[in-house]
Amino acid sequence: MSGSGKSLLGLWLYRTGEDWTLREASQEDARVISGRSDQTRFDSRSSVIFSLKNQVGGLARALQVFQDLGVNVLHIESRPSRRSKSEFEILVDVECDSKKMEQLTGMLKREVAAINLATYESGGEVPPPTPMSATASFDFSEFEVPWFPKKISDLDRAQRVLMYGTELDADHPGFKDPVYRKRRVEFANIANTYKYGHPIPRVQYTAEEIKTWGTVMRELHKLYVKYACREYLENWPELVKYCGYREDNIPQLQDVNTFLKRKTGFQLRPVAGYLSPRDFLSGLAFRVFHCTQYIRHSSDPFYTPEPDCCHELLGHMPLLANPMFAQFSQELGLNSLGASDEDIEKLATLYFFTVEFGMCKQDGEMKVYGAGLLSSVAELRHAIETKEKIIRFDPEITVHQECIITSYQNAYYYSETFEEAKEKMREFADSIQKPFGVRYNPYTQSVEILSNTDKIVALVSELRGDLCIVSNALRKIHAEDEAVENINNMLHKGMNMSGVSPEKSPEK
Ligand SMILES: [Fe+2]
Repeated sequence: MSGSGKSLLGLWLYRTGEDWTLREASQEDARVISGRSDQTRFDSRSSVIFSLKNQVGGLARALQVFQDLGVNVLHIESRPSRRSKSEFEILVDVECDSKKMEQLTGMLKREVAAINLATYESGGEVPPPTPMSATASFDFSEFEVPWFPKKISDLDRAQRVLMYGTELDADHPGFKDPVYRKRRVEFANIANTYKYGHPIPRVQYTAEEIKTWGTVMRELHKLYVKYACREYLENWPELVKYCGYREDNIPQLQDVNTFLKRKTGFQLRPVAGYLSPRDFLSGLAFRVFHCTQYIRHSSDPFYTPEPDCCHELLGHMPLLANPMFAQFSQELGLNSLGASDEDIEKLATLYFFTVEFGMCKQDGEMKVYGAGLLSSVAELRHAIETKEKIIRFDPEITVHQECIITSYQNAYYYSETFEEAKEKMREFADSIQKPFGVRYNPYTQSVEILSNTDKIVALVSELRGDLCIVSNALRKIHAEDEAVENINNMLHKGMNMSGVSPEKSPEK
């Protein structure tokens, strides 16, 4: 639970001595519940009162119904139940029409012990509104669940820059250069005022900045041919064609953003410096990659103490255009939503040794896919040549490896394929302590919180549609038995991975 969520819940509970100015639901209200009332009766403000079932997480589940239906919540309070001293009653003021009220009461009945409708006495004082968005992070059973973005625009609120941004450390190559520092403020302003849905402002790079970029790109490109993995190299021609990847041109983030959206649905978002791991990973859950726009200081083109556009554009972008890699990155992000600080640290370490410093075997040779390596001439050579440092990726072991920022890593981890890395990460994700699962809905660009069996049933029903498409396609193309068996194995593995059996299924 976040600090804000905790204090909000406290506020409710400590107001229990106050009485509301309410009247009990009348027969007219009852007719509204059964759908026989005048359609305009509930077109404005109404109050819903419900008693919670005596089980953990009940309040969160009930309030999720309001959120799922998009009902505008104005005010929430609690008081000891009049039915039973061991229960609490929750009052929720809402604004919605009669049709939505009917849906709301129907869905709420499944989550709560008792439900009633009430209206304020005329002339009664109207309590101040409490936006539902402010309550989104509280009480998921006994677990403390930190706030996390639920929809893509919520990322506007997840932008904690931990290092650099407008300030530089004394050992930063640009620390003593007032022109460079002024330039960094301009980039920070772009990032700090950016809002979801806006185009990323284009930057007029200076001749000095373009020269630095050209020097870095020229040297790295020589190494890519030899060391970069296949998936990285295959996207280069398109990046040159559609995004202007050239030694005399620094690609614009907006152009790369358009390209990536078409290839894998990934989007870019400008950032001023090092983002907190939680905020960075939560962006990946929505297929949003936080991307710096400034460039390193020209005094040392082959060194930067922080990510810059050379690192992002040369290291990350080619692989974010690969569907398999995009999915791997997103799954890392989804695992981070609502995770504890301890689990975020583990996920950030795994991200570091895969997406930043990962290797893979292709045609018997060790290749590189990590952006940290693919944007560093010296460390790329070092990593490939120091064979004794290269170890098979295993999340249980890798998670204990120290991440080194200022010099070479003590170890590098490789997988046979991205698919293998993904499978291992999925197994590891089981160890993350969360009382719910999450799934990204690309149609609404929001995450669905799978916190009870009703929601999982709805999801399975949706997935069945896709499985029917697979099944029909297999029949139409007359797939060979071996191919069908492989597909069956993949489906089977996906279902069995969580180890959920009827005995182990969580309670509804
Ligand atoms: Fe990076």
